[in-house]
Amino acid sequence: MSEKKRIGIAGLGTVGAQVVARLLAGAVPGAVVTAVSARDAKRDRGVDLSAQRFVANPLDLAAAEDVDVVVELMGGEGGAALELVQAALRAGKPVVTANKAMLAAHAEGLSDLSCVSPPVPLAFEAAVAGGIPVIKALREGMAGNEISRLSGILNGTCNYILSRMEVAKLSFEEALKEAQEKGFAEADPFLDVSGTDAGQKLVILSALGFGVAPNMAHVSITGIEQIAAQDISFAASFDSVIRLVAMAERRAETGGVFHQVMPMLVKKPASLAQVGNELNALKIEAEPVGSIFLQGPGAGGGATASAVLADISDIVQGFGRALFSKPTSAMKESASPKPPASEYYLRLALADKPGSMAKATQILAENGVSIEEVVQRSSQAGDRFLPVVFITHHCENSALRAALEALQSQQDICNEVLALPVFAEEM
Ligand code: HSE
Repeated sequence: MSEKKRIGIAGLGTVGAQVVARLLAGAVPGAVVTAVSARDAKRDRGVDLSAQRFVANPLDLAAAEDVDVVVELMGGEGGAALELVQAALRAGKPVVTANKAMLAAHAEGLSDLSCVSPPVPLAFEAAVAGGIPVIKALREGMAGNEISRLSGILNGTCNYILSRMEVAKLSFEEALKEAQEKGFAEADPFLDVSGTDAGQKLVILSALGFGVAPNMAHVSITGIEQIAAQDISFAASFDSVIRLVAMAERRAETGGVFHQVMPMLVKKPASLAQVGNELNALKIEAEPVGSIFLQGPGAGGGATASAVLADISDIVQGFGRALFSKPTSAMKESASPKPPASEYYLRLALADKPGSMAKATQILAENGVSIEEVVQRSSQAGDRFLPVVFITHHCENSALRAALEALQSQQDICNEVLALPVFAEEM
C-alpha cells in the first residue's frame, strides 16, 4: 500500500481510547494515528499516547499538516464537534464521526460541504446502531432495492432498561443506573429515554433508505418514561414484550414516509421481541430482497469503536463516500403522513364499582374501536381504581385518539390512559 493515511482524533472517551488502541495495534493497515485532542491531556486512558502529537484545540486538526483524516468523537449537536467537521470538510479532509445528533440537526449544511465534486467523504457508520453495519447494508448491500419499511431497536439504553425491567424485575431507575454504569447511555440520558436518540438515528437511516431529507420535526417521538412495571407484566400476559421501536414506513396513499419512535407491544415470536439488553436491531423490508434482519451490539465503547474503525478502513482504501448521494436540498421533503392503522394496547384504571367497565367498552365501541382481548387485575385492599388492559382490533389512529379523549373525561376512569401500538411483524 502507498503512504499511510495520517489520522487525527478528537475525543478520547470510551470510544476514542479504544479506536486509538486498535489503530496503534495495527488494526487498520494503511492508517497511522498522528495527532489526538481531548479535554484532559494527562488522564490515563490505558493507551500509550507518547508518540502522538497532543492538540489542545480540536479545531486545529482540520488544518494540521500531519492529519489527512479527521475522526470526530467529541459528541454534541453543535459546538466544537460541528465546527471541526465543517472545517475539515472545507479543507477537503475526509471525516469519520459517531455523532448522530449533529448529523440529524445539521444534515443540510454538512451535505452541502460533503456532496461536492469530487465528494469529501463523511463517514458515519458509528452514528446508527453501534457495531451493526447498517449504513453499509442499506446503501451498498441493498442498493437497487425499493425499501418499504425500516423498523428497529436503535437505542441500547432503552432496550436495556425494558429488558431488565422484564427479566430482573428492576425498577426503571435501577435499570437506567445499570445502563449508565455499563457506558451505554448518552451524557444526558434524557436523550435516550425520551426517544430522541433513536429519532436522530431513524432520520439518518430514512435519508439513506427513502431518500428523504432528515427532519426531526417529522418524527413522532414518545419515550419510555411512562412504561411501568405493570405494563411489562401485562405485556407478558399477552405473550408479548414492550420495545422502543423506531419505524419509518412508506405510505402508499400519499407516497410520503411516516416516521415514529414509540414503545410498542411486540408479540414474542417476532424477531424484535428477541432483542435483549443493549442489543440493537434493524429489520429492512424491501423489494426484491424481501426482508433482512440485522442484530448486534448497539451501544457501548467496543461496538462504536468497531464501526469507527470500519469507516477509517474504508477511507484509507479509497472507499470513502459523501454524507449522502446528494445534498439534502435535492432530496425529497420528509412529509409526515398519518400513522398506519394498528392494533393497540390500552391500559386504563377503572373505578372499582358497577358499570365502569361497561362505560369504557361503550366509549370504545362508540368510536369504532373494537376489543380483541381484555385482562383485568384484581384489587388490593383500598384500591379505588383497578388496572385493566384492552388489546384492540386494527383501528385508525384518529378513532383511537377520539376514544382516548372521551375516556379521559369520565369520572369512573382514571385519566392516566396508556396507549401503545402493537407491532405488526409483516406489513
Ligand atoms: N446512548 C446510545 C444508546 C449509545 O443507548 O443506544 C449509542 O448511540
